[in-house]
Amino acid sequence: AGAITFDDGFGNTGACASAITFIDGEAGILRYRGYPIEQLAAHSSFVETAYLVINGELPTIEQRRDFGRLLTQNAPLREGLLRFIQNFPRDSHPMAVLSATMNALGAYYPHLASNNHQRDLTHFDEAAAIAISKVRTIAAHTFRVNRGQPFNYPRPNFGYCENFLHLMFSEPYNEYIPTAEVASALNLFLLLHADHEQNCSTSTVRMVASAGANLFASISAGVNALWGPLHGGANMAVIEMLQQIHDSGDDGTKFLESAKAGKGARLMGFGHRVYKHYDPRAKIIKESFYKALASLGIKNDPLLDIAMKLESVALSDDYFVSRKLYPNVDFYSGLIMRAIGIPLNMFTVMFAIGRMPGWIAQWREVAQTPKLKIHRPRQIYVGQTQRDYLPMEQRG
Ligand code: CMC
Repeated sequence: AGAITFDDGFGNTGACASAITFIDGEAGILRYRGYPIEQLAAHSSFVETAYLVINGELPTIEQRRDFGRLLTQNAPLREGLLRFIQNFPRDSHPMAVLSATMNALGAYYPHLASNNHQRDLTHFDEAAAIAISKVRTIAAHTFRVNRGQPFNYPRPNFGYCENFLHLMFSEPYNEYIPTAEVASALNLFLLLHADHEQNCSTSTVRMVASAGANLFASISAGVNALWGPLHGGANMAVIEMLQQIHDSGDDGTKFLESAKAGKGARLMGFGHRVYKHYDPRAKIIKESFYKALASLGIKNDPLLDIAMKLESVALSDDYFVSRKLYPNVDFYSGLIMRAIGIPLNMFTVMFAIGRMPGWIAQWREVAQTPKLKIHRPRQIYVGQTQRDYLPMEQRG
């Protein structure tokens, strides 16, 4: 295949025009709708940023209130969907349950799933609020089912992150009320994941949307793409890697040697198709990490020590430097999730909750494209040339 030239992995293919997210990978710049990620991380919340990403402008007081109201109204799940989640095996991967349930929303809200987006975006706000609000309920309910624990119902007086933590961790005998620090660590994590232009899952959403498919069907496809370990699955893979290094008694040095030799696993949480510089999201997470740890009462995490060691060795190692491999968002985000108490198999689901505004905004951009063309790439055929059919007894 060496002689064949095409744009392998779409590394240099501009597939659409988009006004949502700007990335300069060489300079390590990320902006949502023109706002630097550093400013949003410092001053905004996940819900406000979700509104911005979807609608293009920061909300006024009134718009923020209406958006919050829509999210609150749409937080609970219909009984049928609760049973749907309950009927998966106890050890189901939460990403499998999430993608199936997001798709099933199309069955429960047929007026929002009529596959006619090019003509009708009348119900877009409702569909968007359902996706953003219910993804959190679905995720938390899946967690409860996997543990054999009863569901919690969303509380209308709680904010987005507080509600998620309540849905996850409250018990009938003990309501979980998160500290402001835990809620704000979660807020930051979600905000930093809100969009990231044409990554694999977003391109998947746009591809499916280009056929005219409804929002829930398109998002469900995005969830599946995100599940892969080279994409959203990396945040889970990072912790598994750090744990294995820790369990083997290595301080990271041996692991790095085998990653460089291409023998063992890659250094997960390192490298990015677009960033050839420190991922700005990783920088923000890393900076806020110590604050979060202190507020969570965690004195030290041995996996953090290994992560720091890996980073410092890799950043001065010729293999990583020459390939411009820097930590990406997933390198530290898993450590934050761990500190909050999110189990490992839910990490990628957390990424999906965060990415929901981006997928929705990108779906709408496709739906609003005048004279939209279905995405239909071409290929270089490398299979057999023409040959004749042989009856079975003549085949060797
Ligand atoms: N560890 C060791 N070597 C690496 C790594 C790594 N993490 N990433 C890339 N390389 C090497 C790779 O072997 C290749 O070397 P050579 O030129 O000698 O063959 C070179 O760097 C270029 O790699 P590539 O696979 O061609 O780069 P890509 O742009 O196709 O892949 C990536 C980008 C993110 C898939 C890749 O860097 C990777 O697998 N990283 C680990 C997984 C990860 O952290 N993913 C999360 C991405 S950020 C969040 C998200 O968007 O989901």
